[in-house]
Amino acid sequence: MNEEFNNRNNNHGGGTAAGFVARYVAPCWPVGHVLGLKGISGYGSSSTASEVLIDQFPLWAAGGGGDEDAAMTTPPSSSAGLAVVTGANSGLGREVARVLASEPANMHVVMACRSTEKANAVADEMRADDPNAKLYVMQLDLDNLESVRGFARKLKARTDTGEMPPLRLLVLNAGIMPPKEIQMKEMENGEQIEQALAVNFAGHHLLAEMLEEQLKTGARVHGDARVVVVSSAVHRLHGVKNCNVAEFGASCSPLHAYARSKLAGILHVRQLASRWRSSHPNLRAVAVHPGGVDSQGSRDSATGSGATGVVLRALGAPFVKSVAQGAASIVWACTSPLATSGSYVANCNVAMPAATGLDANLALALEERARSWTTSTNALPVDL
Ligand SMILES: NC(=O)c1ccc[n+]([C@@H]2O[C@H](COP(=O)([O-])OP(=O)(O)OC[C@H]3O[C@@H](n4cnc5c(N)ncnc54)[C@H](OP(=O)(O)O)[C@@H]3O)[C@@H](O)[C@H]2O)c1
Repeated sequence: MNEEFNNRNNNHGGGTAAGFVARYVAPCWPVGHVLGLKGISGYGSSSTASEVLIDQFPLWAAGGGGDEDAAMTTPPSSSAGLAVVTGANSGLGREVARVLASEPANMHVVMACRSTEKANAVADEMRADDPNAKLYVMQLDLDNLESVRGFARKLKARTDTGEMPPLRLLVLNAGIMPPKEIQMKEMENGEQIEQALAVNFAGHHLLAEMLEEQLKTGARVHGDARVVVVSSAVHRLHGVKNCNVAEFGASCSPLHAYARSKLAGILHVRQLASRWRSSHPNLRAVAVHPGGVDSQGSRDSATGSGATGVVLRALGAPFVKSVAQGAASIVWACTSPLATSGSYVANCNVAMPAATGLDANLALALEERARSWTTSTNALPVDL
């Protein structure tokens, strides 16, 4: 995989020291962030989501995922298509939804949120700023597999009737940090798994499976469709001894549980990319580390509240991005031709995940395991 990573980046920067820095150092969060470096994409940690979208949009809108040759063979479609963003009512998801729904993309954006009340309030604020924004609030609780199935069915009905255009982007952004007291959740096969894995990974895994046919339609119409999984550099602390798939789901410390759920997201991307590589080359799956971002979620969980939280946040300030900067890497993964299928993105450039995130056998085993959690005898079939 090191070879794959090198090949992907070899056309940029040549063998110079500046090329080395752009290729290997700029994508490394937090080094690239603290030094304010730009990578081979021309973007870096200080780029914002709006900047990235405005630059990338003309080529991406032409079809073919920004690839000039593919764009030549894809007829331009009348709309930029539909994006589904999970957890779009706050933090990174909110900014990604806002940017995709505004000029120049003007995508139809589904805000897939567990609280429609919170999401409607946010959608109203966005519409006040941009009355043309095509925003749809739909209920989705990733902690409830029936809610995931219901969401997928309703989305299909709305795209089938033409109320919404074909699905082009699925941004799997919602996430929780486990509480201090680890919670376990019973899956449909009776197995107990740790809750952050259930929400951050298992719920999203089922959602991606259920929307796969719709993504294929979107890829046909637009010449490109993508699943973008919001992971984290914290995946490096996964603590899965011997990388055994049986370790996934077991109880462990909150930090390790979070890290493991984010590693699972990277393995999800790897598996989707390998499944689609030959059969659906115009479908991509990309994982993203947005950076350490000053969002409500990070304020509530990573550093905690009270005096300790204040001190930790002050110490961490030089490493922290704004929400607009964190969302830039997600928007780059959604639109750039350089964000190849199976890649891991940080600071708006392709970066290297932990070696475990590249393990094809583990990715396959995890997919099988995720399917086993959602296939009890009374469960509805995954295929629509
Ligand atoms: N902030 C960082 O420094 C950072 C760093 C690396 C990775 N990330 C990742 O980036 C993503 C977004 O994080 P953020 O910082 O923007 O946090 P955030 O502001 O807390 O947003 C998290 C979103 O996920 C939603 N969510 C939680 N549980 C859900 C469920 N069961 N079903 C549906 N939606 C649910 C939340 O909804 P409610 O509002 O209803 O709770 C909220 O909309 C997460 O996956 C996080 O792990 C963040």
